[in-house]
Amino acid sequence: MRKQYRAEGLDEHELADHPMVQFERWFTQAAAEGAVFEPNAMVVSTADAEGRPTSRTVLMKAYDEQGFVFYTNYDSRKGLDIAGNPYVSLLFPWHPIARQVVVTGTARRTGRDETAAYFRTRPHGSQLGAWASAQSSVISSRAEIDTVYDELSARYPEGEQVPVPPNWGGFRVVPQTVEFWQGRWNRLHDRLRYVAEPGGAWRVERLSP
Ligand SMILES: Cc1cc2nc3c(=O)[nH]c(=O)nc-3n(C[C@H](O)[C@H](O)[C@H](O)COP(=O)(O)O)c2cc1C
Repeated sequence: MRKQYRAEGLDEHELADHPMVQFERWFTQAAAEGAVFEPNAMVVSTADAEGRPTSRTVLMKAYDEQGFVFYTNYDSRKGLDIAGNPYVSLLFPWHPIARQVVVTGTARRTGRDETAAYFRTRPHGSQLGAWASAQSSVISSRAEIDTVYDELSARYPEGEQVPVPPNWGGFRVVPQTVEFWQGRWNRLHDRLRYVAEPGGAWRVERLSP
């Protein structure tokens, strides 16, 4: 699989006009026949108000012309970073097929309707987990969080509707640049980057590997 993608290369002429259409093509290939385990796992990097970066993996739950959506706790470290500095970077590390996609852009909260619609699709246990975890805060022990979870399970047994936690929801990352990286022989990789132009058009530039 990796060999095949290395041989193919990435040419300007075969790129879609819109980076999200190009992303869809590559995502479909990454997901096909299990080429990549969890192709929707992406690394989100944020920086705090002083510019200090941190990274973590999250699952992309949707993508469309507007960008990439993930769900998290708004009071988490990443949530607080984004509140103070909306510039983020995303990285899809598709090593088995010698590809990566690197996005820069800004993150904004999804609407509450979109968040609620997604929350309702989550398994009951994950819904309770979203309530149980004050994500990124220091806790004294594992028992602390297990106790909170057990209390929530008693209050909302399986089958009972769990409300959406007010501090939990989605972020949509609206891209400003999207780089498609294709591994090639002798480290002479292909790197094609879409750059957003004012007015909604996209320019494509080739980067030296
Ligand atoms: C494969 C994988 C998927 C993950 N998906 C999510 C996710 O969708 N949302 C989330 O908040 N955390 C997710 N996490 C946990 C995050 O990596 C991270 O630990 C958590 O969000 C807290 O990050 P923060 O303290 O930097 O805000 C995932 C971790 C892994 C390894």
